[in-house]
Amino acid sequence: MSFTRQFNALRSENKVTDVLLWSVFALGVLKATTLVLSLASLIADLFVLPGVSFKKYGAYKGKYGVVTGASDGIGKEYARQLAKRGFNLVLISRTLSKLEALKEELVGKYKIEVSVLALDIADDSESNYKAIQETCEGLPVTILVNNVGQSHSIPVPFLETEEKELRDIITINTTATLRITQVVAPLIVKTARESHCRGLILSMGSFGGLLPTPLLATYSGSKAFLQGWSAALAGELKSQNVDVELVLSYLVTSAMSKIRRTSMMIPNPAQFVAATLKNVGRRCGAQERYATITPYWSHALYHFVIENTVGVYSKLANGINYSFHKSIRVRALKKAERQAKKQ
Ligand SMILES: NC(=O)c1ccc[n+]([C@@H]2O[C@H](COP(=O)([O-])OP(=O)(O)OC[C@H]3O[C@@H](n4cnc5c(N)ncnc54)[C@H](OP(=O)(O)O)[C@@H]3O)[C@@H](O)[C@H]2O)c1
Repeated sequence: MSFTRQFNALRSENKVTDVLLWSVFALGVLKATTLVLSLASLIADLFVLPGVSFKKYGAYKGKYGVVTGASDGIGKEYARQLAKRGFNLVLISRTLSKLEALKEELVGKYKIEVSVLALDIADDSESNYKAIQETCEGLPVTILVNNVGQSHSIPVPFLETEEKELRDIITINTTATLRITQVVAPLIVKTARESHCRGLILSMGSFGGLLPTPLLATYSGSKAFLQGWSAALAGELKSQNVDVELVLSYLVTSAMSKIRRTSMMIPNPAQFVAATLKNVGRRCGAQERYATITPYWSHALYHFVIENTVGVYSKLANGINYSFHKSIRVRALKKAERQAKKQ
């Protein structure tokens, strides 16, 4: 090969290497910039920006919020903190006495209108949806909180999950949530249009749905379903001035989680709901997800780290999650054994 040809071959080889190196560099810069920007946005959401004003949803203007699973835990706090923002309420759960007690508290404290509806959402019966329709008919509803949810009583292999538990989880977390939304959302659209305000639909998701969660497979699948459905609905209702958000939560102290003591990673319902309502419309820890919020600060950082390291669908995340829930199952079975011996 002549010297000139050798020289040209080397030059074109170098060009290819240069292009490759520059592409890798540009990709790295793009990735790093995206990461830094989304971290900055997360920090601004969590620690810098002021709380979102609920005036746009008709606060103190006689508007209504509907809360499912309102008599305990997170739902009870949604009711309290919406009442504090001047919303009248329709409260739904199974236990009338608990609903009446909450009604008395909120009417006394905030001078608002409260209707209560005691029904078993797991029934998935037409009479349930009719009762919700009749209670809400004619009310200027601007907010729906799809809070009601059921998980497994303890972590359990899918193949050993009892049929009733499986059916109740799917019915409450998915079918009934969708049907209730079909009843209430048209009222929200109508109120938003007629009162020139915005509407809001919040649905409670979970880290159990964010990450595929072995030993909570049915619950995990049902909450993952809500992620897809809620984001799709957000796209549909955007043009009708209704904000739709999936709210992601790691553990919160409640009857469902069976955790009583708060910690850095586990807020109580009041702290969790305060963070949610302060940040409605922002992503917080769910930077990469449209119409989704991970509002509590430690959950948000945890979500961000998982998403930007191992990823939610990785084998590693799945394995860690499996070990975590296996140890909870072992402890729960031992506790049940001790209790059985006492009787
Ligand atoms: N706590 C957590 O760690 C956590 C974490 C992530 C996501 N979440 C989600 O947050 C939501 C609320 O959970 P939570 O911990 O606050 O639960 P909770 O303390 O057990 O409260 C559940 C509420 O729903 C009502 N309810 C339960 N089953 C019902 C049914 N079949 N029909 C009508 N009402 C029913 C309960 O009242 P009655 O018993 O009177 O019916 C109660 O008011 C759920 O969607 C859950 O998946 C919770």
